[in-house]
Amino acid sequence: MLEIVSKIKDEFEAGLKAVSNSEELEALRIKFLGKKGALTDVLKSLKDMDAETKKQVGMEVNALKGEMEESLKANGKRLEEALYDMAMAASPKFDFTIPSEDNGGSLHPITIVQRRIEDIFKSMGFIIEDGIEIQTEYNNFEAVNIPKDHPARDMQDTYYLSNGQLLKTHTSAAQNYIMRKYGAPEPGKPLRVLFPGRCFRNENIDACHENTFFQMEGMMIGDDISISNLIYFMKVLLSEVFERDVKVRLRPGFFPFVEPGFELDINCLICGGEGCPTCKQSGWLELLPCGMIHPNVLRMGGIDPDKYTGFAFGLGLTRLAMMKYGIKDIRVLNSGNLKALKQFK
Ligand code: DAH
Repeated sequence: MLEIVSKIKDEFEAGLKAVSNSEELEALRIKFLGKKGALTDVLKSLKDMDAETKKQVGMEVNALKGEMEESLKANGKRLEEALYDMAMAASPKFDFTIPSEDNGGSLHPITIVQRRIEDIFKSMGFIIEDGIEIQTEYNNFEAVNIPKDHPARDMQDTYYLSNGQLLKTHTSAAQNYIMRKYGAPEPGKPLRVLFPGRCFRNENIDACHENTFFQMEGMMIGDDISISNLIYFMKVLLSEVFERDVKVRLRPGFFPFVEPGFELDINCLICGGEGCPTCKQSGWLELLPCGMIHPNVLRMGGIDPDKYTGFAFGLGLTRLAMMKYGIKDIRVLNSGNLKALKQFK
């Protein structure tokens, strides 16, 4: 009987060597350990043996069974790994060992400029607020002194939703909400808020107009705020952002929500003031419209215009990024073209 067991062992080992996939391995298992398998037959015949042989053969058969099971398991794993290796060899090659640092993402130029300005203003005591993009007509227009049928609405045509709300045309849409949220400031502690955001307009797209762009609005309201405060903050802002002297000009500008209102233009940094498509050949770019907050706007925000004054500005963040980095065409910024966008640090 022991001879038969050793023969089974040899046959099993030979069979195992010939196995090349998991189906063949399973067939081998059934051949030896299945219900009618060779080793199972020996186990079944144990009961007819005398006690001594039963003991001897039993021990041998059980040991072999354990061995076989072990080998089947090990070979199953080996076959699985081989299958994985084959699949990997057939698929495109990836070098998982390349360090990822140089291949990681980068900040969008607008984000870089936005964070820089936030840092500057935070250091001057400003709070940063996040404006929502879907607004009511009231917040976007009425609350900033642009009543229904006011011609100023024509310049800010946008996308209306079926429920009558709209995609905000300017960050000024958050002014009313912010005034109501923080209320009138305590004496000597002016309310200082910076609120960046994405804006939308139904524009004809060209090198300097996009239907989606970014602005950065700021407001300072207190019992003693004047135009000189406004000019000071605007100067700090521009010199810190450009890290060099830039030529600016201040001229009167009309915006229904400020009185007086100004346009702060900077000398076009793309052409140095000679005239190019980016500055519409004028040599100047409107960058920073600003002014003293209109009494109606303060009143609608729940702040008494007889006691408080304030300034507001609406920085064209997209335009600022273009100027800072010499980006000639606004369309690059929304293009998702990584080759173009990854150059900025
Ligand atoms: N909201 C204006 C626009 O998008 C920009 C603006 C002008 C904002 C003057 C202001 C301001 O806060 O004082 O055209």
